Amino acid sequence: MAFRAKARGWLAGRWLSLSWARALGTRAAPAPKAVLPFEAIPRCPGNKWMRLLQIWRAQGSENLHLEIHRTFQELGPIFRYDVGGTHMVHVMLPEDVERLQRVESPQPWRPPLDPWLAYRQHRGHKCGVFLLNGPEWRMNRLKLNPDVLSPQAVQKYIPMVDRVARDFSKALKSRVLQNARGSLTLDIQPSIFSYTIEASNLALFGERLGLLGHSPSAASLNFIRALEAMLKSTTQLMFMPRGLSRWTSTKVWKEHFESWDYIFQYANNAIQKIYQELALGRPQHYSGIVGELLMRSDMTLEAVRANSIELTAGSVDTTAYPLLMTLFELARNPDVQQALRQESLVAEARIAEHPQRATTELPLLRAALKETLRTLLDAPMHRLYPVGISVDRQVGSDVVLQNYHIPAGTLVKVHVYSLGRDPSVFPRPERYHPQRWLDNRSSGTRSPNLAFGFGLRQCLGRRLAETEMLLLLHHVLNNFLVETLTQEDVKMIYQFILIPSTLPLLTFRAIN
Ligand code: HEM
Repeated sequence: MAFRAKARGWLAGRWLSLSWARALGTRAAPAPKAVLPFEAIPRCPGNKWMRLLQIWRAQGSENLHLEIHRTFQELGPIFRYDVGGTHMVHVMLPEDVERLQRVESPQPWRPPLDPWLAYRQHRGHKCGVFLLNGPEWRMNRLKLNPDVLSPQAVQKYIPMVDRVARDFSKALKSRVLQNARGSLTLDIQPSIFSYTIEASNLALFGERLGLLGHSPSAASLNFIRALEAMLKSTTQLMFMPRGLSRWTSTKVWKEHFESWDYIFQYANNAIQKIYQELALGRPQHYSGIVGELLMRSDMTLEAVRANSIELTAGSVDTTAYPLLMTLFELARNPDVQQALRQESLVAEARIAEHPQRATTELPLLRAALKETLRTLLDAPMHRLYPVGISVDRQVGSDVVLQNYHIPAGTLVKVHVYSLGRDPSVFPRPERYHPQRWLDNRSSGTRSPNLAFGFGLRQCLGRRLAETEMLLLLHHVLNNFLVETLTQEDVKMIYQFILIPSTLPLLTFRAIN
């Protein structure tokens, strides 16, 4: 007990001195200290089973990100946190990410999400890379990277995404111009969801769904609802041992299974269509990511299907919410918006000629996307959020983090949410300030950008998500002024990903 209190006191002192040293820009190397044992890591107070009970009672844990953030402020940059039978170590500093990356194995281990795994096991479906680990993960991932993540793949699907982004902007313009004032105030969320579904569907399956300009079809509305229900039930089930939740949460399991059934059916239809088209003959032109995977025929049809389902399910909310938040942030920061518009207007002629140039000609807009993912909104206390709140790794070998010994097999969570708010890493973190990323680059300091994870296991859909966000914002900035009457922060809630609880209305004003 005395040892623990001492360790805590020592840690608080060290945390303070580090923060001060950083604030003053004097990070003198501390004298080497003996590595402390795992058991000395401060532990988050509270009973792990009571915590589980709370999550179960509240049907999820909407403020988990805030609770963890508060605990960092109280205990310092590393602590142990257990929920039920799950033991975790939370960290948040870039130096720990670097250490984790240095010891990462060729098959980084991320604990699979049990509710998702349970569904596949129960229905006899294969898993894709999101849920796999070990050699099977590596085999799948190495075959997917060239068609999904590589620069060559991006060059191929950018023109497709650009067409959808231009159509989005055209459709919005015709709605705006129907009003005599040349402006329209609306809840843009349904249109942005239609855009991400349309753009991802074209890039993945080479098919237009025709969702823009009309109200979304019943099938895509149901798909969005199924995704939302699946994410919500995931948080309600993910901490609970399966054997227990079978009895305590039957209704939630039923909802979880029904939503996955719909998502599988939806993605299967798309895969089936492209498979049949390929059976008729090799297409003349690029026909999307899944077509390439099928033609390459170095993965089984089952493996292509399993991964395509993950790509389809992962491609809607993840990209739609940061887009919505960027639009809101630009609406309430008109100066930032104007600077981005200037860049977009200058680049438009060259991008119209070759959409691929968008990746190099819009550095400030790319920085704004990084800033959105670092930042954005929250409860009155904090404004900033990234989509996922942590990046998880079960470490494959022993490692030392914050001078504590972490044995192989420990689940370590890098808390991206708290990292993005650390003033010693991001000065004035509450400010929405895209330029900081460019200033850092020119001064040679690299700020950690962990929204998409890190290392070999980083987000497979990263480039597709970036392309979709970049092109939509580019065309919106070229065609509209975006305004809002709301200056207050939007409350974010944790439902496996962080999502806004409500979104303010935005006004789009046509630019001649
Ligand atoms: C702004 C949007 C997105 C964000 C912030 C995001 C974030 C993440 C993060 C943090 C991870 C875990 C990485 C790690 O463990 O190091 C991940 C994994 C993954 N993401 Fe995304 N993602 C986004 C969009 C997408 C899209 C559009 C797709 C599909 C088209 C996608 C598919 C995946 C897949 C398949 C994995 C698992 C990769 C693996 O374990 O090998 N994501 N994403």
